[in-house]
Amino acid sequence: MNFNVRYELYRAYFERGLGNFCACMDVAPAVLGESMRYSLLAGGKRIRPVLFLSVLDLLGCDHEKELPLALAIECIHTYSLIHDDLPAMDDDDLRRGRPSNHVVYGEANAILAGDGLLSTAAEILLEEAGRSARHLAAAKVLAHAAGVSGMVAGQSADLLFENREGTASDLIFIHTNKTGRMISAPLTMAATLAGRDPAPFTRFGDTLGLLFQLTDDLLDEQAAKLGKTPGKDREEGKFTAVKAYGKTRAAEMCIQYEQTCHAILEELDADTEFLHGVVELVAKRGL
Ligand code: IPE
Ligand code: IPE
Ligand code: MG
Ligand code: MG
Ligand code: MG
Repeated sequence: MNFNVRYELYRAYFERGLGNFCACMDVAPAVLGESMRYSLLAGGKRIRPVLFLSVLDLLGCDHEKELPLALAIECIHTYSLIHDDLPAMDDDDLRRGRPSNHVVYGEANAILAGDGLLSTAAEILLEEAGRSARHLAAAKVLAHAAGVSGMVAGQSADLLFENREGTASDLIFIHTNKTGRMISAPLTMAATLAGRDPAPFTRFGDTLGLLFQLTDDLLDEQAAKLGKTPGKDREEGKFTAVKAYGKTRAAEMCIQYEQTCHAILEELDADTEFLHGVVELVAKRGL
């Protein structure tokens, strides 16, 4: 099956599940539920759930049984975007092609919508963790990736280096944590659920995460295409790959990461054609 068709099948399957989940979310006051749904249903690429579901398939698991964990992944990702856009963080008014959550619902409500999504994810994780030892292990992977050893640490470092030059390893720390952990977690979780050694999947996810953030940095000037405000990194004085290396070198580094991703996949004892396609999608996105 053609890569785009397959990606779309996973994405549409997840989107239906997310739609049902949102329809069943019984939240009061209404504004809290509305603001959570506003961001959840704004139509992102859903790359993290698609990675998770496709690797489950690849390793012979029934992906339909693991939809709740896919929802938890996207809830945490969406909360990170709502908070990332807040005036106190990146101060970005546009997300997924629509006004950011705080523009529509106000800053305080946006903070709470993010808190609500994170707590909802925690509830799902606790529920799923009770299913088996593998589910418990997979839930721990996501909790770890989202928190102070992962995404939150990366976001903290990202702010610390605003209007400040860092080293190459500072940049790797930022990219690995703010973006990489939430890209590799779905892969590690899927391998864990399948009872496989997660190490090569994690290594693949870590490299894909670095590639993902490098392309995100490179695309900042044309972010309108991605439904975000163009030039935000420059405006906020962010320490990005473009600032550290310049566009040409950053683009060369993308090619290197892309090759490394493909090489790791070649070593995996599984049919990785779809994952090779995801690497291409990330490397070429928006270009
Ligand atoms: C944006 O993530 C935040 C970063 C980690 C760069 P995505 O580019 O996956 O955003 P959506 O989910 O498709 O909107
Ligand atoms: C955001 O990185 C990473 C997280 C949301 C955790 P960016 O700040 O570069 O993401 P965009 O460009 O706003 O999507
Ligand atoms: Mg940011
Ligand atoms: Mg941002
Ligand atoms: Mg960015």
